[in-house]
Formats: sequence, structure tokens, C-alpha cells
Amino acid sequence: MSKEESVETAPAKPATPPPKPAAAKAAAAPASSKTAVPRRSLLSWVTLAWVAFTASMLASLTATARFMFPNVLFEPPPTFKAGFPNEIQIGQVDERFKQRFAVWLVRSAFDEWGMGSGIYALSTVCTHLGCTPNWLEAEQKFKCPCHGSGYYKTGVNFEGPTPRPLERYAIALADDGQILVDKSRKFQAEKGEWTNPAAFLKL
Ligand code: FES
Repeated sequence: MSKEESVETAPAKPATPPPKPAAAKAAAAPASSKTAVPRRSLLSWVTLAWVAFTASMLASLTATARFMFPNVLFEPPPTFKAGFPNEIQIGQVDERFKQRFAVWLVRSAFDEWGMGSGIYALSTVCTHLGCTPNWLEAEQKFKCPCHGSGYYKTGVNFEGPTPRPLERYAIALADDGQILVDKSRKFQAEKGEWTNPAAFLKL
């Protein structure tokens, strides 16, 4: 056998040595972390689903509660008792019922509508755009803070943009002698309704 032939038949060396055990372990590590990530993400999806489910249950429970107990506007009754006539002095504008019932009670020695002396119930709603005027004792007038409309004690307008007097409510004496105001019945001066006996409590 020649020298050249022996070189040709010698076993070829592998291009890269086989991986050592430690290197093989390192190579296997990413594979195990690849399986851990989906499990964690699955858990977070389940949590999210539960949160969404709980939120939707709470929302539907709230809706049911609102249906069972709807928002109700508790307004004062249209008819109310306002004490005894002698609790109001002649010439006084009684403001005790302004806040709760939006009513002034006025006791006059005489009424320019020919009704004599007595008490009438004035609405506290400005007939311009609905603000609440103030009673100015020193000036003996109602003055609206919104646009300056002014009303005499009778409720008749005399200044500002309002086109008409304040309105009056039905007033009478109850069986127990107290003043009874009925806000479901209104009387307007411009319609000639202030001369209606129900609009004035004669004393
Ligand atoms: Fe009273 Fe306009 S609302 S003056």
C-alpha cells in the first residue's frame, strides 16, 4: 500500500464535537421555559374572565335593585296646613313656608282687589323665568335676583322684565281652624281670578 492511499482512507474527523452534557442541558432550558409561559398566561386569562364575570353580575344586580327601587322624587304634598291666622301679623309677609312649599302668606288690612282684610298665598316663582324672588322688608317689595323684576306685596309686578303678577294659590280655613293652602289651584290676576273667593281668606 502506497503512502498516498493510506492518507485517503484515514477516518474523517467530525466537523464539530458532540455537545457535552452541560451544554445539552443549557440547550434544553429554553424549551422548558417555553412551556411555563403559556400556563401563566392561561391563569391570568382565567382571572380576567372571573373579574369580568363578577363585574357583569354586580352590574346586573345593581340594575335589578334600581328597577325594584326606582328614583322617586318626593315632592311636598300640594295641600298643606300653615298654622293659625293669628300667627301672622297684619301687614306681615310670612316666609315660614317659602323653602318647603314655595309659598308666602301675606296678611293684609285691606286688599286692593276689593276683598277686604285677610290672608292670601303667593307663589314664590317669578313669572319671568322662574327664579325665586326675595322679600325686601325695608322696601316692602319682592325683588327677583335673576333679572331684577319687582313685585308689590300684593304680588303685582311693577319693574323689570316680568310680564305679569305672581300667582296666588287657593286658601281656606281647615276644620281645626288652621290655614289650608292648596297649590293645585292657581289664580292669576291678569285673568281676573284674584277675586275668586277661593283665592283669599277673609278674616
Ligand atoms: Fe325673575 Fe327673570 S326670573 S326676573
